[in-house]
Formats: sequence, structure tokens, C-alpha cells
Amino acid sequence: MDFEQLKQACLACEKCDLCRTRTQVVFGEGNPNAEVLFIGEAPGKSEDEQGLPFVGRSGQLLDQYLKAIHLDRKKNIFITNIVKCRPPENRDPAPNEWDSCLPYLRLQFKMIQPKIVVCLGRIAAQRIIRPDFSVMKEHGQWTEKNGVFFTATLHPAALLRNPNNKPLSYADYVAIREKIEQVCTHTYE
Ligand code: URA
Repeated sequence: MDFEQLKQACLACEKCDLCRTRTQVVFGEGNPNAEVLFIGEAPGKSEDEQGLPFVGRSGQLLDQYLKAIHLDRKKNIFITNIVKCRPPENRDPAPNEWDSCLPYLRLQFKMIQPKIVVCLGRIAAQRIIRPDFSVMKEHGQWTEKNGVFFTATLHPAALLRNPNNKPLSYADYVAIREKIEQVCTHTYE
């Protein structure tokens, strides 16, 4: 299976009940050969409408941070979510929804083969890095697993609610830029 076939399989997915309430599946956006993979929680209203990740207000903030460190979802990163369909009323995804959806993320990870993974927010960090990960205490720290560097930063939606934390998150993006310079080979400018 190649990346496009994976996308088509995901777009047709009916493995959990979220398929009944979604408008569109949000598979992810970006360069499938990216060295840097960003992972959020689940699509919200705007993402469900447009079929793209992080396109609402929090996505606009994310794009500002990305731009500041020469990252661009159209060029040199891939952005996706753990759960690919919007939970109704933005409720937390249910365990069976996580479990049904996780194989898509695993395959995306296997095919993209990123060198750096950035978890956006607590939920993604706890699913991907460690179940007891504290995003407030441990954001910006790095863990290496099988040669891939994992980190987490505050969710952009949390920064919109709490703008005082923006400098904390900005420092994480600066550290991501430094890590890219250490471990990535593509050109980022
Ligand atoms: N929040 C997320 O975690 N993902 C999105 O795609 C949008 C908002």
C-alpha cells in the first residue's frame, strides 16, 4: 500500500460511529516525505468542514509559529491528528474511536518515516509519548525512540485560551528548529 492508497482507505473508513456524524475525514496535510510530523488530537468544526487539519483559529496560530521557524505545511512538514473524524460537539474521542483510528496514524508514521515528531497538546502527548506525560511540566523536552525524536508543546487552542503561555510554546518551536538543524537533512529556509 502506498501513501495515496492509505489516504483513500482512510477517507472511506467506517470502522467507528464517527463516520456517521462526520462531514469529511481529515487524513492530514503536507509533504509525505517530510522529516517533521505534527500530531494533534482530533478535527474540530472547521477541520470537519474543510477536510484539513488545523484550519480554524488554533490552526492560524499554529501556522504563525511554523512560519517563524521556516516550516510550512505545504512544503516541509506533515500535520495530522490521532483521530481522523470530528467527535460530535467536540467531545473527547471514546476509547473505541482511538483504537479504531490509531492504525492509520501508525501507517502514516511508517510511510513518512519522520525524524522528529511534535505532539500538539496533552492528549496527543499522552497517547504518543507516555500516558502520564504532563504537557505543562514536560513540554519542550525530547525523548528518542528508535532514532526518532519526540517532543510536545502546548495545544494552540490552549494558547488561545491562555495567551500568557504563548512564550513557553514559542520557545518549544525554537527548540524544534534547533533539533531540525541537528538531525534533519532537507533544506529548511
Ligand atoms: N485541534 C486538533 O487537535 N486538531 C485539529 O485538526 C484542529 C484542532
